[in-house]
Amino acid sequence: MLVDTFGRTATDLRVSLTDRCNLRCAYCMPPEGLEWLPKPELLTDDEVVRLVRLGVEQLGITEVRYTGGEPLLRRGIADIVRRTAELAPRPQISLTTNGIGLERLAGPLAEAGLDRVNVSLDTLDQEVFKRLAHRDRLADVLAGLAAARDAGLLPVKVNTVLMRGVNDHEAVPLLRYCLDRGYHLRFIEQMPLDAQHGWTRKDMITADEILARLGEAFALEPEGAAERGSAPAETFTVDGGPARVGVIGSVTRPFCGACDRVRLTADGQVRNCLFATEESNLRDAARAGASDDELADRWRKAVWAKRPGHGIDDPAFLQPARPMSAIGG
Ligand code: GTP
Ligand code: 5AD
Ligand code: SF4
Repeated sequence: MLVDTFGRTATDLRVSLTDRCNLRCAYCMPPEGLEWLPKPELLTDDEVVRLVRLGVEQLGITEVRYTGGEPLLRRGIADIVRRTAELAPRPQISLTTNGIGLERLAGPLAEAGLDRVNVSLDTLDQEVFKRLAHRDRLADVLAGLAAARDAGLLPVKVNTVLMRGVNDHEAVPLLRYCLDRGYHLRFIEQMPLDAQHGWTRKDMITADEILARLGEAFALEPEGAAERGSAPAETFTVDGGPARVGVIGSVTRPFCGACDRVRLTADGQVRNCLFATEESNLRDAARAGASDDELADRWRKAVWAKRPGHGIDDPAFLQPARPMSAIGG
């Protein structure tokens, strides 16, 4: 088991398959992109599968999420998913993607054993999309979403980060769009994880603001906190249900106390938190010939050192050196 000194157990492994991306969302990276990790530093497909197997077989991991950057840019993704689905006990397997390429890959990934997807969608307006993501790919994202639903990757969850003066006027239309198509929309507070370090608290659209805006158009009722468990989203029924919407208030309503996550970066570093300041290098240990038991030991130590929370409100808070795209969302 992966436990920490605050009594939490990490059962949800989030694996970044690449730090590259084909979008440039403003809350994540600058328009010119970033310096990508050199290929030899990335885990190979076999190395990814070995570490995931270790997590599942020896460390109590029950859910595996593949993320990026944009994980669909990783060539071997279907094979990695297929090999993950062969593990025993079989973990739940999900993917967080920007949706580009999903139109083509949803079917093959479902066949390989992928259970569900979360897709980022911040706007329905082509011009806003171009301004926010610096690419003209809205149609691909919408087609990817539909393909995911048609391939049975359910529930299809949609993630929306609202940015003041950019897309914050779209909360209501986005929710209507998702409700009409059976997608489960979650609005996310923007976190200080952008490569440009441009995040400010005053520009962040808070959970309270999101709920106030939605409340002007819909009747929202909070769903039982009992069912929430370690999920980052608080959920609300819309107009009496069964329609629902989620709000992920990572900053103003942190859920660190119930966190069950641990991360593996594309270059094979264990991070015990999105905001961790230290990492444990499993890649180099594995390449130097470490046994499964030795790797498991390192991994346990890394999780043991997990801090109680992200500390964004601490005066001494420092944004992690790695941006979200290199950590894995
Ligand atoms: P499911 O609800 O199981 O589908 O997972 P999820 O919502 O965690 O997955 P997703 O990758 O879609 O992440 C959505 C958002 O949750 C991210 O944008 C973050 O804002 C937030 N999030 C994910 N993991 C963490 C975490 O470890 N800490 C914090 N504070 N926020 C997280
Ligand atoms: N704050 C909050 N969410 C973010 N994401 C990317 N960067 C940030 C940030 N700075 C979201 C993406 C994606 C999810 C994995 O994380 O929109 O849906
Ligand atoms: Fe790419 Fe995701 Fe970052 Fe957007 S948030 S630029 S889709 S990695």
